[in-house]
Amino acid sequence: MKLSVFHTPELTPDQNSADCAIAIDVLRATSTIATALAVGAEAVQVFSDMDKLMHESEAWQPEKRLRAGERGGSKVAGCELGNSPLDCTAELMHDRRLFISTTNGTRALQKVQASKTVLAAALINRRAVVDHLLKHHPETVWVVNAGWEGSFALEDTVCAGAIAHSLAKGLGVPLEELAGNDEAIGAVALYQQWQDNLLGLLHHASHGKRLLRLDCQDDLKYCAQIDVLDVLPMQREIGVLVRA
Ligand code: MLT
Repeated sequence: MKLSVFHTPELTPDQNSADCAIAIDVLRATSTIATALAVGAEAVQVFSDMDKLMHESEAWQPEKRLRAGERGGSKVAGCELGNSPLDCTAELMHDRRLFISTTNGTRALQKVQASKTVLAAALINRRAVVDHLLKHHPETVWVVNAGWEGSFALEDTVCAGAIAHSLAKGLGVPLEELAGNDEAIGAVALYQQWQDNLLGLLHHASHGKRLLRLDCQDDLKYCAQIDVLDVLPMQREIGVLVRA
């Protein structure tokens, strides 16, 4: 198995050759997607375009859908929800489809949507993702970070490192054997430095600071937890993720 990390969708090659692609947006899209599925959402359908989301969700009965829209960290007008995983209660999500569009996270998922297997990972469900990789042994794994508007993001990179670190251990191979690019080795180094203070790292991250300015400190606390949700969001059809 070879695992490569790409810091942004823009840095991810267009010619997709991954057997398994993993999109990461710790703050907060993939944390929200994992949480929605964990508490009983029927599926999560992702859109990069807000108008498309509104149009497609119109075809669903209002009691069977929820619309979540985020731009710049804030909720988009006309949606029931923004992008806080803490809004994903069992009562609200039960048997409903979550239609979601966010600034960067949904773009990362779209970038790799043609891969054989597409997963969504965050710190909160890291173990479920690693267990899947250990069980299925895909030859080529691409970890695609959402980043922020084309730039590197600490929180996504530390999560990529947490996955690669645990995977190398589980496979019983040195990291150099698993790593498909330099970014994978760098991500593990970041994780090793911050593994005991992930919340501290999220506070240093530029998007973490943006969310703190928007009064979202509880979101940071929630998203900084590791291995707390046993849920694997997997793409069932293009743009639609379900609990595997
Ligand atoms: C994104 O897609 O950029 C994020 O999920 C933004 C957010 O924190 O809502």
